[in-house]
Amino acid sequence: MPHITEIEDLKRIYRRRVPKMFYDYCESGSWSEQTFRENSSDFDDIYLRQRVAIDMTGRSTATKLIGQDVAMPVALAPVGLTGMQHADGEIHAARAAEKFGVPYCLSTMSICSIEDVAENTSAPFWMQVYTLKDDDFMQRLFDRAKAANCSAAVITVDLQLLGQRHKDIKNGLSAPPKLTPKSVANMMTKVQWGLEMLQTKRRFFGNIVGHAKGVDDPSSLSTWTAESFDQALNWDRIREFRKMWDGPLIIKGIIDPRDALEACNVGADAIVVSNHGGRQLDGALSSIRALAPIMDAVGDKIEVHLDSGIRSGQDVLKAVAMGAKGCWIGRAYVYGLGAMGEKGVSEALRVIHKELDSSMGLCGRTDIGEVDRDILMIPKGFSGDWEA
Ligand SMILES: Cc1cc2nc3c(=O)[nH]c(=O)nc-3n(C[C@H](O)[C@H](O)[C@H](O)COP(=O)(O)O)c2cc1C
Repeated sequence: MPHITEIEDLKRIYRRRVPKMFYDYCESGSWSEQTFRENSSDFDDIYLRQRVAIDMTGRSTATKLIGQDVAMPVALAPVGLTGMQHADGEIHAARAAEKFGVPYCLSTMSICSIEDVAENTSAPFWMQVYTLKDDDFMQRLFDRAKAANCSAAVITVDLQLLGQRHKDIKNGLSAPPKLTPKSVANMMTKVQWGLEMLQTKRRFFGNIVGHAKGVDDPSSLSTWTAESFDQALNWDRIREFRKMWDGPLIIKGIIDPRDALEACNVGADAIVVSNHGGRQLDGALSSIRALAPIMDAVGDKIEVHLDSGIRSGQDVLKAVAMGAKGCWIGRAYVYGLGAMGEKGVSEALRVIHKELDSSMGLCGRTDIGEVDRDILMIPKGFSGDWEA
C-alpha cells in the first residue's frame, strides 16, 4: 500500500480510480464554486497558538456526540451516490466508521439501502432524510430507520431546490451511469472500479426504488425526484417531521443564527452548521466563518456541529476550539472510499485523528473536552462586520 500521510494522497488515488462522472460529482461546488473553495481556505486564516513545556502525555480525543460515545469529535456526513464511488460504498464507509468508533450517517440518496447497511454492520448509524412532499414516504423512511435501529435522524434543510453544478450537467450524471461513447471510454480506464461494480447488485437508489410510490424502476426516479423535493418547506413542516421521529434529531444545513434559533424551537437535539459543502447557495458564507455568530446565538441551548471544508485534523481542532462539539466530514472520506474502499475510509479517519491528536498536544492540551478558543488566533472581523 502507498504511504498515506495526508487526505490529499487519498484524493490523488481516488481521481485515478473512479470514473470522471463520479469524481466530478464529488469534487464540485455550485455555480462559481466560491463557497466550495472558501469552506476550506477560510480555515487557513485561523492560527493555532503553539505552547511548549506542558506535559502532553495521556492525550484523549474521545468525547460524546448527542450523548453517544465517539473516539474523536468526527462523524461521516451523508453523501448521496456513495455506492457509485465504490461498489457497496455505504457499507464500506459504515464499517470503517464503526471500527474507528465514529458515527456514520447514511444519505436518503444512497445506493445501499437502510436495510443493507443495517444488515452489514452492528453499530447503530444515523439516517439523513431530505424534506420531501410525500408524507407516506417520509413516515416510512423514519419507520425504516427506527426498524434498522438508527440512533439519530438528520433532517437536511438546505436543499429545497438543487444548486447547479455545471459538471454534473455536462457529464450527464446518473446512477447507474448512462452508457455514452464518452462515459464508456472513460470507464474502460477504471478497470478495478468496473469489476467491483459488476459484482454487486446495488447500483440503484436503494432507499427509493421500490419504496416510493410510482418508483419501481430507476427510469422513473428522475421524475419522482424533481417532483418530490418540497420548495414550500417551512418550520411548521419540520415540526411535523419531528413528530414522525421520536429519537434524537439533528438539523443539518444551518448558516444563519436566526435559522439556528428556529431549529432550537422545533426541538432538535443538535444542528449542523453547514452549507452542504458549497453545493447549494454559491456566495454563502463558509461554515467556519458562520460558526461564531451561531455559537453566540444558540451555543448554550443546543449542541452545535459543523461541516463543509474539513480536510485535516487541524481543521477539526479549529472548529472544536471555536465551539463546535463535532465535525462532519464529506469529501475527505469519499476520497478514501474511492481510493481503496473500507480501508481508504479507515485511512482517512486515521490521518485526521493523528493530525487532531498531535496538534492538540502541540497546543498544550491533552483532552479534546478542554480545547477552547484560547488555543486560537482569529483575525479581527473573521466572522464578518457586515453592512446591515
Ligand atoms: C458528493 C456529495 C453528495 C452529498 N450528498 C448529500 C446528501 O445526500 N444529503 C445531505 O444531507 N448532504 C449531502 N452532501 C453534503 C454533505 O453531507 C456535507 O454537508 C458536505 O460534504 C460537507 O463538506 P465537505 O465535503 O467539504 O466535508 C453531499 C456532499 C457531497 C460532496
